[in-house]
Amino acid sequence: MNLSDSLRLRFGDDLDLSVSPRLPSVFRSMICRGSCRQYKAETVDEELCQLLCAAALAAPTKSDLQQRDIVLVQDPEIKAELVKLVSDQAWIRDVPNIAIFCGNHLRQRHLHEMTGHAFANDHLDAFFNASVDAAIALSAFVTAAEAAGLGCCPISAVRNEAAAVSNLLGLPDLVFPVAGLAFGYPKSEPPTISMRLPLSETVHMDRFGTHDSKTAIDAYDRRRRAHQPYDRQRAEAHFGISEHYGWSEDKSRQYAQPERREFGAFIRNKGFTLD
Ligand SMILES: Cc1cc2nc3c(=O)[nH]c(=O)nc-3n(C[C@H](O)[C@H](O)[C@H](O)COP(=O)(O)O)c2cc1C
Repeated sequence: MNLSDSLRLRFGDDLDLSVSPRLPSVFRSMICRGSCRQYKAETVDEELCQLLCAAALAAPTKSDLQQRDIVLVQDPEIKAELVKLVSDQAWIRDVPNIAIFCGNHLRQRHLHEMTGHAFANDHLDAFFNASVDAAIALSAFVTAAEAAGLGCCPISAVRNEAAAVSNLLGLPDLVFPVAGLAFGYPKSEPPTISMRLPLSETVHMDRFGTHDSKTAIDAYDRRRRAHQPYDRQRAEAHFGISEHYGWSEDKSRQYAQPERREFGAFIRNKGFTLD
């Protein structure tokens, strides 16, 4: 599929591609990407894993603080335990490579111990900065891996059992899992392009738009129903069958049920103040 068709499928919009001959090839892998949940058994070489980590950690970092670390899970026993902790997602069992992206505020505290300057910012921002840093590194890892022909899928489910995952990986206080990442050689290609809301809904000029979101979301629901219908309805036993099941119904069903209520307590136990 050419770039123009991929963009139309993704966003439902026709974008001006007059600059496209000058676009580097990474644009194509970014625009045509899709999460991969089925992999060949072959693992990714250690050297490539290290290069991907280098690409990830070369990404911007808040104030050069470098508050993110990556745990590459290679030991089969640790991997098997990790898989057990996210057992509600069967596809993870056969993933060849897993990395865990962690926020790390501990190193900053070490700097204060080393220099003797008291840390004067024990509030929500410390947790937020480390989380954002880890997420940026994860995103850069995905971009590099997909440009190299690998498939990836983030795994926030590692936070369902955050304390157990943290113990398993030996994460100290002030270091916490943000997300896991499955990666490897995809079983099939090309990836499925998952539709997104149109740019007119999510990109704003100068000031946040006050347009009618409901109309845009209804149209998006219709577009997805026509081209990428859900293969099952979420929590059918609880919510019943919806005749017009779409993204808005799926996402509101998802968050109509409690999820990760204990995460705040876990983060506080890790030593963060969230006020
Ligand atoms: C932080 C984060 C956590 C995610 N966690 C999971 C997960 O636990 N399981 C899963 O199957 N997909 C997970 N995903 C993948 C999303 O479901 C996926 O990106 C989304 O459905 C859009 O599809 P696409 O990546 O193919 O465009 C996660 C994505 C992100 C960014």
